[in-house]
Amino acid sequence: MDKIVINGGKHLNGEVFISGAKNAVLPIMTACIIEPGKYTLNNVPDLRDTRTMGRLIEMIGGSAQFHKNSMQINTVNCDKPVAPYELVKTMRASFYVLGPFMSRYNYAEVSLPGGCAWGPRPVDFHLKALESMGATISLERGNLISKGKLHGAEIDFEKVSVGATGNTLMAAVKADGITVINNAACEPDITDLVDFLVKLGGNIEGRDTTQLTIYGNSQLKGGFEYDIIPDRIEAGTFLIGVALTGGEVTLRNVNPKHLEIVISKLKDVGVNIQYDSDSITISSSGNINPVDMTTGAYPGFPTDLQAQWMALMCLASGNSTVIDEIYHDRFTHMAELSRFGAKLHLVDNIASINGIKNFYGAPVMSTDIRASASLILAAMAAEGSSEISRIYHIDRGYENIEMKLQGLGADIKRTQA
Ligand code: UD1
Repeated sequence: MDKIVINGGKHLNGEVFISGAKNAVLPIMTACIIEPGKYTLNNVPDLRDTRTMGRLIEMIGGSAQFHKNSMQINTVNCDKPVAPYELVKTMRASFYVLGPFMSRYNYAEVSLPGGCAWGPRPVDFHLKALESMGATISLERGNLISKGKLHGAEIDFEKVSVGATGNTLMAAVKADGITVINNAACEPDITDLVDFLVKLGGNIEGRDTTQLTIYGNSQLKGGFEYDIIPDRIEAGTFLIGVALTGGEVTLRNVNPKHLEIVISKLKDVGVNIQYDSDSITISSSGNINPVDMTTGAYPGFPTDLQAQWMALMCLASGNSTVIDEIYHDRFTHMAELSRFGAKLHLVDNIASINGIKNFYGAPVMSTDIRASASLILAAMAAEGSSEISRIYHIDRGYENIEMKLQGLGADIKRTQA
């Protein structure tokens, strides 16, 4: 199994190109199923997860092929609305086929996702929304079977859910009548999905807000080219990395509007940040002020940057807290950060961090995509060498991470154990 080996202590300097957004492209790939057609998606990150979603499209009778960072998807011959356990267990986002399957076939067979490293992660909101739109759902040998012609409904999510908002949008776009989603997620990934669905012929009001109204339209027109937004989580990871190691880096192909809260918090940390419409330059002396942070639904601080932020706060010149309001159990990185010398303490979903002067290199193990990113950042700031194992997690969500970091001057390489 591959490992990443890092000799810490180097500043990051130079320019890095940010890839397309994983969490935007995955639902958009499934949205290509709604209406048969040949689609070209541009700015698609070449990741384990985008390849897994491509495999799922192939398993149901379509094709999905990468040409550099464009993906050609043909859903004309898709005829088997089934997402098996083997795929869903490796990538929860496969659950995004539920809405598209119901839209196109009035039928879906999708394995029920289990828990994950950071808690139970239920899908009850997705199912309740579909049921209120007329679906009949049963569970057979771990697979959800959903049937029925969908109609519009008013849906109130008790909590903001990116996945349930996306699935409901894709289910509603062709349903009979009007669907209203209250307390909808307005993450940029959802707005990107709304834009894709509108290009498909969908009639959707409330873009970028917490109330989405979808006027069902059975006359959609599939088959077109679409550009995916840049990945704000990858961008945020690089920004936090520079704040940790010191240096000056310009990020290209970013949308600073998607990172307002992250930029504002980093300014409180003491770094210098400047940006225009599609680039951000950060410079840091490596001095880190302690700044408390609580995650929240967009435009709040993303839970997907919580682990990286915690690594940063470990080297702050004082004490801070990190609270995760989205996933109360998303703290597996704490035990690994402790191996670098971090002083951390967890009560419920509140982590207290006592800032220390230095991390010291150590062998550590990644537990999920973003936890791996936080360990890479910490190892780059550490004295001495570190080995990060189970690195396949990072390949799910970061394109060419070690090459991008090498380009900025980091001493990082991938080895085979
Ligand atoms: C998406 C992202 C993930 C990110 C998360 C929160 C993708 C592929 N993944 O995951 O990277 O960390 O948003 O920003 O885009 N919940 C329920 N019942 C449900 C659905 C959700 O209780 O049916 C709860 C969850 O347990 C969690 C909260 O709602 O506490 C938000 O989860 P949600 O936004 O749905 O996360 P995902 O869409 O799975």
